[in-house]
Amino acid sequence: MKNLVLIGFRGTGKSTLSQELSQRLKRKRISTDEVAAERAGMSISDFVSQHGWAEFRRIEAECIADLRGSENLILDSGGGVVENPENMSLLGEHGIIIWVHASLEDVLKRLMGTVHDAQRPLLSQGDFRTDITENYIRRVSMYKRYTAFTVNTSTHTIEECCAAIEKIL
Ligand code: S3P
Repeated sequence: MKNLVLIGFRGTGKSTLSQELSQRLKRKRISTDEVAAERAGMSISDFVSQHGWAEFRRIEAECIADLRGSENLILDSGGGVVENPENMSLLGEHGIIIWVHASLEDVLKRLMGTVHDAQRPLLSQGDFRTDITENYIRRVSMYKRYTAFTVNTSTHTIEECCAAIEKIL
């Protein structure tokens, strides 16, 4: 069966949803962040501060390329995979792309407590709120471009989102 590929901005609930789906559907869950951090040998934050975003994106793309031919997975993808069209064509080859969306207000609220999360360094210079707001707005059109189905964790519970995704299957 095709992979279920969750894309979406940081803090929208991809990881929580992917864990719930993995249990309910009895499918293996893979987080591209976890794979990338393992390959980097350190947290994403440490890697980015030492080597920069471009190098992280290269590692992220390698991890996605290594998934070619996989099936039946629940893929929890990093929020920036949409920055590279090659990632999306690979993920779309054997995957149903699902956009896990949430309002900017909710994303900010959910992330405020985790701004120094080791996996989520600032994407650009400046203050946290500006960084999140500018990148969120910039990326909405990217997520829309690649998405077959959308679930919204601002208006629906994780349970409701899971049920909607199960209906897709
Ligand atoms: C990123 C989101 C993070 C992680 C890295 C880059 C982004 O993943 O891949 O910090 O570019 O938005 P999550 O979306 O799981 O937080």
